[in-house]
Amino acid sequence: MQDLFLKALRCEKVPRPPIWIMRQAGRYLPEYRALRARHSFQKLVHTPELATQVTHLPIDRFGFDAAILFSDILVIAELFGYEIDFIEGKGMKLRAPSQEIDLPVESLRYVPETIRLLKKTLPVPLIGFCGGPYTVCKYMERLTPKWLDKVTEASISYLKMQVDAGADALQIFDSWAGHLEPHDFHTIALPYLARLVKAIKPTGVPIIIFCRGSHRYLSELIALEPAAIGFDYEVDLSEIAKQVPSHIAVQGNLNPELLNGPLSSLEPAVNYLLDAMQDRPGFIFNLGHGIEPLARIENVQWLVEYVQKQKVH
Ligand code: CP3
Repeated sequence: MQDLFLKALRCEKVPRPPIWIMRQAGRYLPEYRALRARHSFQKLVHTPELATQVTHLPIDRFGFDAAILFSDILVIAELFGYEIDFIEGKGMKLRAPSQEIDLPVESLRYVPETIRLLKKTLPVPLIGFCGGPYTVCKYMERLTPKWLDKVTEASISYLKMQVDAGADALQIFDSWAGHLEPHDFHTIALPYLARLVKAIKPTGVPIIIFCRGSHRYLSELIALEPAAIGFDYEVDLSEIAKQVPSHIAVQGNLNPELLNGPLSSLEPAVNYLLDAMQDRPGFIFNLGHGIEPLARIENVQWLVEYVQKQKVH
């Protein structure tokens, strides 16, 4: 298995930065849209053979340096009896059950089954993931200590199950946490995220923390000692990287919108990022948020080839 990505996560010297992008298996891909024309999102996520196929699409087409499990951060809510309503063109909505339900994490066994299938065929490391407790509870509309606790404990078991199945790295998407006001961040987001990270660390599998607005709570995230921190595109990554200890990798942070437009706007931004980061061990090239359905396929092709022909001096 090619291990550039895992080396960069350990901040080891690598010949060039590894690249993968958030939502790399998504609607910008014609192959994905073709599968979605035949199956619902839920069906793709719940069927290990299909989820495996979708995870492979961007790896087979572009040769990214890491794969991310095809699933969603909201599947954890199934354990509490929530149903995911997927409204075409409108996104996801969670529907609460009429009474309290608590299913064991094993009811999400289609996820480790997918991971086991993927580990047989993937040429690159596999990233497992879950949502941060705050972000998941926000979608569940249950932002109380009791629910934050329940989701934290479930997420711990869920990530451990992914590790047991063979995930090589884990990303926690606490997408909305960075936008909280300081008091809220310190009471309803950070303590639960911290508990989750602390519980998973003994597995030895590297953890990436991604929040939009992570730069606002940088010292708090550094204190959790993840393998890497992911940044959105609001910050100059090289400036932020100076404040991150050299044993913690940084991931990011190209503006995803640049992939929707002409190469003449994309190329200078990519060069800026690569130049600024070239001396930083532990840099993982990614977007600052998920790739958009409008991204041009030829831009993605160009980006992967371009990053992969870099040489770090
Ligand atoms: O990155 C990947 O390719 C792996 C799979 C993945 C998906 N969602 C697939 C998906 C991952 C890691 C996620 C994370 C996720 N899901 C987050 C955190 C990251 C972020 O975007 O901030 C959040 C908040 C969600 C919840 C979610 N999923 C929403 C709100 C929506 C609807 C809005 C939208 O983008 O369509 C989704 C749907 C979703 N998740 C799709 C995919 C490929 C689109 C499904 C489709 O239309 O076929």
